[in-house]
Formats: sequence, C-alpha cells, structure tokens
Amino acid sequence: MDKIKIIGGKKLEGKIFISGAKNAALPLICASLLTDETVTLTNMPMLSDIKAMNALMEQLGTQIDEFNDFVDGHPTKTYSYRTPKATSLVAPYDYVRKMRASYYVLGPLLARYGKCELSLPGGCAIGARPMDIHLSSLEQMGASIEIKNGYVNAKIDGRLKGAKITFRTVSVGATCNLLMAATLAEGTTILENSAMEPEIGDLANLLNDMGAKISGIGTPVLTIEGVEKLHGATHKVIADRIEAGSYAVAAAITRGKIELVNAQEPTLSRPLQILRDMGVGIEVKENSIIVDARGKELVGKDIMTEPFPGFPTDLQAQFLVLMLTAKGASMVTETIFENRFMHVPELLRMGANINVHGHASAIVRGVDKLSGAQVMATDLRASFALILAGLIAEGETIVNRVYHLDRGYEKLEEKLKGVGAQIERIKEADEE
Ligand code: UD1
Repeated sequence: MDKIKIIGGKKLEGKIFISGAKNAALPLICASLLTDETVTLTNMPMLSDIKAMNALMEQLGTQIDEFNDFVDGHPTKTYSYRTPKATSLVAPYDYVRKMRASYYVLGPLLARYGKCELSLPGGCAIGARPMDIHLSSLEQMGASIEIKNGYVNAKIDGRLKGAKITFRTVSVGATCNLLMAATLAEGTTILENSAMEPEIGDLANLLNDMGAKISGIGTPVLTIEGVEKLHGATHKVIADRIEAGSYAVAAAITRGKIELVNAQEPTLSRPLQILRDMGVGIEVKENSIIVDARGKELVGKDIMTEPFPGFPTDLQAQFLVLMLTAKGASMVTETIFENRFMHVPELLRMGANINVHGHASAIVRGVDKLSGAQVMATDLRASFALILAGLIAEGETIVNRVYHLDRGYEKLEEKLKGVGAQIERIKEADEE
C-alpha cells in the first residue's frame, strides 16, 4: 500500500484550489437515478469515493460519460449520468462495504421503481452509524422495510406518500435520502429537524432544477411537494468546505499564509471564527479566503462539534492537532460520533500532550515540538490530521494507509507541494 512521507518544518505559502465537495457530489450522483434524462455534474473532484459511486451506478444500469473540464483554469471532471431504466435495483455488499454513502441509492430507487435492496452498511471506525432514521422515515411514507441476510428490502406499491416526518436526531444522510425520495411522492412531505449542511442545499438546488418543488432550503424544515416526473439538469458541485478547512489549518499550523481559491466563507463561518479567536488572520475575498498566521502566536480555544452551522465533526481531528501548537489548554468535545479520537494515540507517539476523557472530550495542551514517526489512521479526516502533525514535526513522518486520504483529498501531495511542503508519495512498488 502507498505511504506518504513528509519532512516537517516548512512554512506553507501560496494558493490552493479547493475541489468540488465529495459529500455533495455523492448524493448528487444518486439524484440522477430519479430521472430517465441526463444529469450533468461539473466541478467533480477526482477521488476514489467518486469512482466507487460511479461503479455502483454502472451496476444499476446508469450510463456515465466522463469529460475533462476546467474551473477557474484548474482541471476538474464533468460527469454525465443517464439511467433510461435501471437494470438492477440491488446495491450489493461489495459496493456498500467500500463506501457507506452507497445508501444514497435507496431513496431514489424506491421513489422511481418502488423497490430497492441495499446491503446494510455496518459500523465504521468512527461509530456505529445505524440507518434507523432513513428506514423509519421511509416507512412513514408508506414503504415496507424488511431486513434479511444483511440487506434492507424496501418496497412500495405505487408511489411513496407524502408525510410529516420529524427526524429524531439531525442526520445528513437521512435528510438527503428522504429529500430525494419525497420529490416523486404523492402529496406533500415535510421534513422537520432536517440537517442544514451546505451539501443538502446543493442537493435541493439540483433537485429543483430537475423539476422538484422543494422549499425551506437552508432551514431545518424542508417542504417537498411531490411531482410525477423529474427531468435532466446541469449542476456545478459546491466547493469542499472540509478540504478548505483542512488546508486552512495547514496554513495556521505552519504559521504560513495560504489563499484558498474557491472556498466559500458562509460554509465555513464557525471554523473560521475559531481560527480568528486563536489569533489567525482571515481575509474573506469574493472567491477565496486568505488564511495568514505568519509571525502569530496562537492561543488555545475550546471546540465542540455540532450539526451545521456548528463546528463540523469532519474538521475536529485537524483542529485538535492545531491546538497542539497553541498556548494553553483547549478542550475538544465530539458530540456527533462516539469514537472519533482514534488519531490521539498516534499523535501521542509523536510527542503530543492530549488527555481523552471517555469518548466525548479531549484536553489538548500546547507542546514545544512534535517529532516525526511512522503513523496510521483509521479514517479519512484523522489521516489528514496526521499529515498536519507531520508538517510541523521534526524529521520524517510516514503516514500509512493512504487509501483513506485518496477517498477525500484530491491531489493532496500536489496541492501541499505547491505551497512549499516537503511531501511525497511512496508507491508500494518503490519499496523493497
Ligand atoms: C455525513 C458525512 C460525514 C459527516 C457526517 C456528520 C457524507 C457522505 N458523510 O455522514 O462526513 O461526518 O455527515 O456531519 O456526507 N444516526 C443514527 N441513525 C441514522 C442516521 C444517523 O443514529 O439513521 C446518527 C449517526 O450515527 C451519527 C449522527 O446520527 O451519530 C449523525 O450522522 P449523519 O449526519 O447521518 O452522518 P452521515 O450522513 O453518515
């Protein structure tokens, strides 16, 4: 397996182009299943999770065309999806096992074809992550749901029925799945306590462009008036706020200055406020954000993860590492997932001072230095946190299990090299 080698100590300066958002792209791809016409998505990131979703779509009978494209002079991908009629209504174990977001096919397939068999995703490194909210909400819309041999068998005679659904807890996945399902339902669906993450707004905007009738976008109450048919559309994927936030930390932790081109401030207000409070300079421009920590002494800040517009759990690991370079103690509290401090033991091996209390909080104290080590993480964002630690550690850090990073960070080494990092990928074949 490939590894990433970093020699720490370089101040990062320059510009980084922020790619299209993975977590927006995945449900957008599945939304194309709701119509027999073509849905074209531009500004798509080149990531293994997108390839995995495309493979699942092809297995369902979707025809995909891929084009090389440019956004603001940067190479990106455009994909066109067309599903005249699905040839399979099954999302098999081998696909779902590789990527849990495969469950986004459930809402669209059930709504358009009245049936879907989905392998139940198991837990993952960061938590149990059940699907009960997706399933009970679809039941409220009239679907019959049976779980057998590790699969969800969902069925409906005729169309799903509009319903008033109050989610028991805020869930990004359940909100997206129900939003897609409700577009083709009979009557009106009201989704209360919906997630408000920007990726959901992006999905709702595409669905409306396809002929759906969704109102309340950006609020916790989404109202969807069902329609009989949706049509094709072309849509530009929003910028990846988690990628932007991760590189903002790279600038801050190395006391450098990075312009995050394409990053959108409204999607990042809370993390940017934390950076400002810590002493980092933030300048918001029309199509970019400049993060400037040159010559700054940073102070620790407490953070607590919450659904949007709160602090995102997907930036918790990165900010925790940043707190190691700040004066004083910072308390990091995780409220979304039950097992999201798996990066801490690896950071301790690099000389960090962190005390984890139960599963929910960690006290992080500033340290004079970290030292390079061989490390590995169990999930995507934790892996980036180790990259950040490597950027400031003395000597060489080798981050193993690079496949996690390839799921969510497009051209990671290229982007970091471009701002002055000493980083390279060691291909498996290069090793003896
Ligand atoms: C999405 C993101 C992930 C992010 C997370 C929270 C994608 C592909 N993934 O994951 O990167 O970390 O939002 O912002 O967009 N829950 C239940 N039952 C359910 C559904 C969720 O108990 O049916 C719980 C989860 O276990 C978790 C919490 O609700 O504790 C929030 O999860 P959810 O928002 O659904 O996360 P995902 O959509 O899986």
